[in-house]
Amino acid sequence: MRSTKIPSQNCEYIVQTPPDRDLPMTLSPATAVRVHAFHRQLPGYKPTPLVRLKSLARYWRVEDIFVKDESHRFGLKAFKVLGGSYAVARLVCQQLGRALDEVPYAQLVSGEVRKQIGQITLTTATDGNHGRGIAWAAERLGQKAVIYMPKGSAPSRVANICAHGAEVEVTDLNFDDTVRLARRKAEENGWYIVQDTAWEGYTEPPLWIMQGYLTMCAEAVDQLRAEDAVPTHIFVQAGVGSLAGAVVGNLVQVYHSPRPRFIIMEPRQAACIFASVAAGDGKRHAVTGDLNTIMAGLSCGEPNPLSWEILRDIPSGYVSCDNFTAANGIRILANPLPGDIPVEAGESGSVGVGLLDLLVNHPEFEELKTLLEIGPDSVPLFFNTEGATDPHNYREILWHGRYPSSGSTSSSTDPAAPSW
Ligand SMILES: Cc1ncc(COP(=O)(O)O)c(C=O)c1O
Repeated sequence: MRSTKIPSQNCEYIVQTPPDRDLPMTLSPATAVRVHAFHRQLPGYKPTPLVRLKSLARYWRVEDIFVKDESHRFGLKAFKVLGGSYAVARLVCQQLGRALDEVPYAQLVSGEVRKQIGQITLTTATDGNHGRGIAWAAERLGQKAVIYMPKGSAPSRVANICAHGAEVEVTDLNFDDTVRLARRKAEENGWYIVQDTAWEGYTEPPLWIMQGYLTMCAEAVDQLRAEDAVPTHIFVQAGVGSLAGAVVGNLVQVYHSPRPRFIIMEPRQAACIFASVAAGDGKRHAVTGDLNTIMAGLSCGEPNPLSWEILRDIPSGYVSCDNFTAANGIRILANPLPGDIPVEAGESGSVGVGLLDLLVNHPEFEELKTLLEIGPDSVPLFFNTEGATDPHNYREILWHGRYPSSGSTSSSTDPAAPSW
């Protein structure tokens, strides 16, 4: 497996022709329908917008651009609660000895169920969004949550979790070691760990979490259909890869002929899927150290084993990106061209749009653009997985130009493009 570096942009990429492989039935479109039916029962549920950026598409000379905007999810500013709420509901039903579709959500949150299963404590490790989702779900069920966060976690993200009555401890560990700590605490105290990554002997809650994310896919598929659009390129960012595994594993079954190209983005400081693919031995490889990146949600060094084979075999491209790529994505989405609407994107949500900017505008990305066949017929789909969950950094990026482009980036100069 050959990777190509673009040193001036702190970027590295791998392109492959995906081999044939069995499709993951646990992430099938039928599963997505069932999960979607669960989320529809939650008070305050509404599909998040699918934003169509027609002016940007014209300016960047592609057919269309779609952004599934999770900054509006349940008022929590991130997609993560989809996985947490579904997994916690499945766990509670397991305690009750009942199937989830036999128990309406209104009954789950009734005091009745709490009386039956008693007071339980849910725990997890999180960069912010997942823990907020677990705390939110626990609060609705009248249960306790104890949340562990890695060192350097933004105070706003800590406060967002505390606001749901959870106990929060910021550790002096990186994300992967914080997961091990939460796991140990759960074992010592008899708590239930609801983690968004799997390990040997622990696969059920992480699979439920991945399935929970399928509501986002089901909505996007319906919304694209309503626009009469079919994506040609699906960009998904990865931390441990649960989100990307769910999206790729599901959408490859929805859009199979022609199959879209899937592209996985990671921060270069925590590019564990990239490193695993680059190793070329078919196995997962960890990235260690501080994993220090502004893309806090993607700051994970160990790929989820449940996603790994999907992410190894289905995508066409893997890109390890610098902080400025995410910062540019934030600026582009917040400052739309006339006719487009602004999108509030956080650091872990914006990196795909930042990457498309490089692909269509930067001469050093010409080879990657050609290999991925990005051109006038392309319809890229992005997942803006969070809004401004660290408002201080968001403003620094927007107002004061923090994390500027590295070197020169030529912007679109198509004489046929409208001048704004
Ligand atoms: C906003 C955001 N986007 C993407 C991800 C990546 O998800 P995963 O760790 O499943 O790859 C996360 C994870 O926390 C996140 O918070």
